[in-house]
Amino acid sequence: MSTTNPYLPIRAEILEVRQETQSDTQDVKTYKLKLDEPFDYRPGQFVEFSVAGIGESTFGFASSPLIRDAMEFTIKRAGYVTENIHMLSAGATVWIRGPFGNCFPLGDLEGNDLFYVAGGLGLAPLRPMIDYVFDPAYRGKYGKINMFMAARTPGDFIFAYDFEKWSKMPDTTFYRTIDGKVDSWTEDDKNFVGFPHTLIEKIPFDLEKTIAVLCGPPMMIKALSSSFVALGMSPERIYTTLEMRMTCGVGKCGKCNIGHKYVCIDGPVFNMAELGEMPNEY
Ligand SMILES: Cc1cc2nc3c(=O)[nH]c(=O)nc-3n(C[C@H](O)[C@H](O)[C@H](O)COP(=O)(O)OP(=O)(O)OC[C@H]3O[C@@H](n4cnc5c(N)ncnc54)[C@H](O)[C@@H]3O)c2cc1C
Ligand code: FES
Repeated sequence: MSTTNPYLPIRAEILEVRQETQSDTQDVKTYKLKLDEPFDYRPGQFVEFSVAGIGESTFGFASSPLIRDAMEFTIKRAGYVTENIHMLSAGATVWIRGPFGNCFPLGDLEGNDLFYVAGGLGLAPLRPMIDYVFDPAYRGKYGKINMFMAARTPGDFIFAYDFEKWSKMPDTTFYRTIDGKVDSWTEDDKNFVGFPHTLIEKIPFDLEKTIAVLCGPPMMIKALSSSFVALGMSPERIYTTLEMRMTCGVGKCGKCNIGHKYVCIDGPVFNMAELGEMPNEY
């Protein structure tokens, strides 16, 4: 916890705003922040992010925890709070509470191959893990990596500026898909058209050694995990992160529960075996 009082926000200055999507269907921007009192966090965790006089919303960390002097959040314009965040520019003040929630079990995953599948904005909570694992200090602890990025259209990919760097990482194969054919997209053995759950069988991976990490809309996660299970993968080896509506972030308000679990403290990261034991409310 950044402070002893989890309700007390820390002041942060927006250092930079980056437009991520170039499409008519969604508007996503990344905010790079410098906190007055920086804190450590782990890939998969989230914060409560507020604008004074407007309100508070929940966002996952979108930058590597190994970067100490700044942190990034990638935010889609969805409603009142996010519209107001989207009006802010570099130099503005925002407020951060956190870090909250569990994280991807990076220690437990050592020695395994990794298969990331991210749909649209779902790449944001995966990016801290991706960059952490690619750090030279940690890359040797993991095996082969498949990265599979999905978006509605070419303009809907976020972090497109990272793709070339990631695709050149050692022992890594990088794939992309978009939902439907467009003139600007050339299909080949790494660039597909179609939903990811219909395509994973085209991607070679070792079923026994691989951990799948899936982030994206609930429909995509359900279809994808069914496809991985149909190929023979055990649900314990498939991880995802949930986005339930949250208020307190610390297990007190009861807003985010699924059955007996509070997504803010028991999650947001779960494996599919754990989700299989919970009511289908996500
Ligand atoms: C753990 C966690 C991590 C998240 N990470 C991110 C992130 O990295 N980037 C990002 O853009 N968003 C993220 N979200 C979703 C984000 O919190 C909501 O989009 C935001 O709170 C909407 O606030 P608003 O006032 O702008 O919109 P509202 O007016 O409250 O809602 C606008 C629309 O967004 C939907 N919505 C609101 N809250 C959620 C939610 N929690 N999950 C799904 N849909 C929601 C509403 O149903 C409505 O259709 C995350 C949510 C959680 C719980
Ligand atoms: S957000 Fe309050 S209990 Fe989870």
